Amino acid sequence: MGKKSVMVCICIKLLMLLKIRHKYLITAAALKVDFYKNACPQLHEIVQKVVATEFQLDPTSPGPQLRLFFHDCFVGGCDASVLLNSTDVNQAEKDAAVNFSLGSFFVIDEIKQQLEQECPGVVSCADVLALVAVYSVKQAGGPLYEIDLGRRDGLTSYAASSETFLPAFSLNVSGLLEDFHVVGLNLLDLVVLSGAHTIGQAHCNSIVDRLYPQVDPQYPKYYSKQLVANCTDNGYFKLPNYDNNTQFFNDPITPTRFDNQYFKNLEANLGLFTSDESLFNDERTRKLVETYASNQDAFFKQFGISLRRMGKIGVLTGTQGQIRNQCWVRNSHNVDPALDPASLDFVS
Ligand code: HEM
Repeated sequence: MGKKSVMVCICIKLLMLLKIRHKYLITAAALKVDFYKNACPQLHEIVQKVVATEFQLDPTSPGPQLRLFFHDCFVGGCDASVLLNSTDVNQAEKDAAVNFSLGSFFVIDEIKQQLEQECPGVVSCADVLALVAVYSVKQAGGPLYEIDLGRRDGLTSYAASSETFLPAFSLNVSGLLEDFHVVGLNLLDLVVLSGAHTIGQAHCNSIVDRLYPQVDPQYPKYYSKQLVANCTDNGYFKLPNYDNNTQFFNDPITPTRFDNQYFKNLEANLGLFTSDESLFNDERTRKLVETYASNQDAFFKQFGISLRRMGKIGVLTGTQGQIRNQCWVRNSHNVDPALDPASLDFVS
């Protein structure tokens, strides 16, 4: 990356930092756990049932469902911007290269459709993402966390923002911390939320930095052999057109169970990404990894706290934004292009 683009990147991050901090401070207090108690009492049951049905069909479904919430919140706040479709004149977040493997959009749509039948125009897509995340954790064997609700849906979504704000798999603790600080999260949040990688799957290109041009010697031999076998073709790395379809479990020991195995894996050098293993390699984070590896209750407790904190990043409340009718496109009726020129990009 040239000097100029680094500067542009830093400027965008600083601007977003100010914007997010401002929103974070003034609005997060308006969220509450029982926000829809009267307006949509069926909400929890609908979400729980759809998540459970998906799980019956596919035990790996909680992974992409949980990840969606993270990818939404880190990019301009938890406002369901990750769900908006691109238009002729705008490339939205979901089409950013970094989001190439995001999935489960259909689960959100299914839930939203049922909600619109039971309590039309009431529940935001941003809150559906939050609830799907907590019910996915529960479905995978973790605790059922309380999560604050009352978010509203944003009006814009830009692929470039995802590239800027989502932490890269190749980062070490210092780089990861920078990205977490930008959204108001800290070192503890970083370690414990990375524990989400106790479920879910990944592709070859997310470990390319550890396999190419040479295999990272920190992987145990038997493990790197498997990874290399899957990511190479006749002995050659599938680069630059490596195979996006090959998938690995983030946690090779208990791949579909939400537990503290992720941290035990880091101790055994089985962290899949550079970002994972760096948590064990760095003095600043190693103690926390060891704590969670030996104490699942401590992991469960802090994960709930940090997930709730993540869920408050840059939220819209009150009369801000809108409640979308459909999660992939914003309602154009209450958007004034004169006040919000970017809105023209999103008229369906
Ligand atoms: C700390 C910084 C993080 C980095 C660098 C990171 C990176 C990644 C990457 C590269 C993948 C695999 C993508 C692919 O190859 O398809 C992935 C998957 C996943 N991530 Fe993260 N992640 C981070 C934090 C988080 C957080 C905070 C959560 C949720 C709270 C999360 C939840 C997940 C889940 C559940 C999957 C599996 C998705 C699936 O099964 O499709 N990640 N992450």
